[in-house]
Amino acid sequence: MNRSTSENDSLESGARAPAPRHVAIIMDGNGRWARARGLPRLAGHREGAVAVRRAVEAAARLGIRTLTLFAFSGDNWKRPPDEVAGLLVLFRRYLAAETPALVRRRVRLSVMGRRDRLPAPLRRAVSAAERATAGGRGLHLRIAIDYSGRDAILGASRRGPARSRAGFARRLGLASGGGAASDVDLLIRTGGEHRLSDFLLWESAYAELTFASVMWPDFTPEHLETAVSDFRRRERRFGGLSKRAAS
Ligand code: FPP
Repeated sequence: MNRSTSENDSLESGARAPAPRHVAIIMDGNGRWARARGLPRLAGHREGAVAVRRAVEAAARLGIRTLTLFAFSGDNWKRPPDEVAGLLVLFRRYLAAETPALVRRRVRLSVMGRRDRLPAPLRRAVSAAERATAGGRGLHLRIAIDYSGRDAILGASRRGPARSRAGFARRLGLASGGGAASDVDLLIRTGGEHRLSDFLLWESAYAELTFASVMWPDFTPEHLETAVSDFRRRERRFGGLSKRAAS
């Protein structure tokens, strides 16, 4: 990974930024993982669900406060109907199977995105999981299903003019259903692609980006630790100057 001069500056001075509070992941590569093994795409998604479980545990261990996972975009409805149906069933099963462990680990789960196009059993599973985990004071896990960053911004702006960025951000959290969350600190995309795909467009304005070539089903806690460790070596300037340039 190439490092900029300012990143080298902060490396030389030994400065370590705090761990990211909010990590967002675009979980890409399930299909290619399956194809490489001669398996149907859904097998890749199923293995992807196992990687989700690992990532949630690792995020909590690393002290990450919010983990937002992109599971299904508003544009993913364009996929073949059997893949879409399989994914929706997988989400429902994941929620039913994982809720007890989430409660035990004090994880609060919320689902972002449109609910009106989801099948009723999935909608019920989402509500049940959100209710059961509402008291969780550990990691806030947000799963984006039928989510579009542009539509979320549009939905928030339809609620009337906002007086401040912070006010708009709160409204965005409400409009997209994920609940209030801080801006994204670290955005990871697996699968070797380099794009945002309409994910958290407002919230990622100053996110540090990490693109990993690993396919999502092969994503391990070590990959997350490496991304966090790399993040902590970066100097975030938010449009200002590096410490060295300012002194
Ligand atoms: C993108 O990879 C992945 C998706 C559209 C689905 C993500 C779903 C999971 C990780 C399944 C489990 C999720 C939860 C929340 C239980 P792709 O299929 O586009 O991969 P490709 O680019 O290799 O074809």
